[in-house]
Amino acid sequence: MIATTELKYDGFSMVLHWLTAALVAVLWTLGQLMDEFTKGAPRHAALSVHMVLGLLVGAVVLVRIVWRSAAGRRLPPADEGWLNLLAKAAHYGLYLLLVLTVAFGVARAWVQGLSVFDWFTFPRPAFATRSVVRTVSELHSDLSDLLVIVAGLHAAAALMHHYVRRDSVLRRMLPGKRAG
Ligand code: HEM
Ligand code: HEM
Repeated sequence: MIATTELKYDGFSMVLHWLTAALVAVLWTLGQLMDEFTKGAPRHAALSVHMVLGLLVGAVVLVRIVWRSAAGRRLPPADEGWLNLLAKAAHYGLYLLLVLTVAFGVARAWVQGLSVFDWFTFPRPAFATRSVVRTVSELHSDLSDLLVIVAGLHAAAALMHHYVRRDSVLRRMLPGKRAG
């Protein structure tokens, strides 16, 4: 018989999952609000916070990928057939979108030669013409929107499991003794 605790993700995976979700919510909202900050020191501070948190979520995702492939607990699929395929695609898609959004955020800061507070300045490369900056900026912006949309659908699926199907899928990712 499988112990009920075995039907839950391990604590470290849960911490990494919820930390990622919280950071993505803050980063996306801060990105949307960037123009509300007065030009000059306030906007520079907000942008610096965005970049530091963005790098932090990048580190959290890398740790999560390593942990998942090395020691993290993997659970049997929560769905069957095409729903299982959809859930898998959403999970791998979320990992991919997280990595790409962070990578294009760093690329955006690099091609714009931005500084993070007065700690560090990305050296602006010679190839960073206006059109390169525009393309990289649009990619970062579109990828982050797509990430939030897929994460929203994924969260809706988790809530559907909990409130409509009334199964234990959401509880697998929540602290507490029992999942099933
Ligand atoms: C999952 C992580 C991230 C998310 C969800 C995110 C989200 C966003 C959003 C929604 C915007 C506003 C887009 C727009 O309207 O143009 C933005 C802007 C920006 N992001 Fe990120 N970002 C992330 C990570 C990063 C990282 C790691 C960096 C760099 C180290 C970064 C650098 C920037 C820069 C430079 C801007 C432009 C701000 C401005 O000038 O208005 N982002 N981000
Ligand atoms: C930006 C926000 C989010 C991201 C990027 C994200 C990402 C992920 C990823 C990649 C997995 C797969 C875990 C693995 O097997 O390695 C996962 C699992 C899970 N997530 Fe999220 N998630 C987010 C928000 C949420 C929210 C808001 C909820 C709940 C309302 C949620 C509930 C769950 C549940 C229950 C699982 C386990 C599913 C299963 O066992 O099949 N997630 N999440």
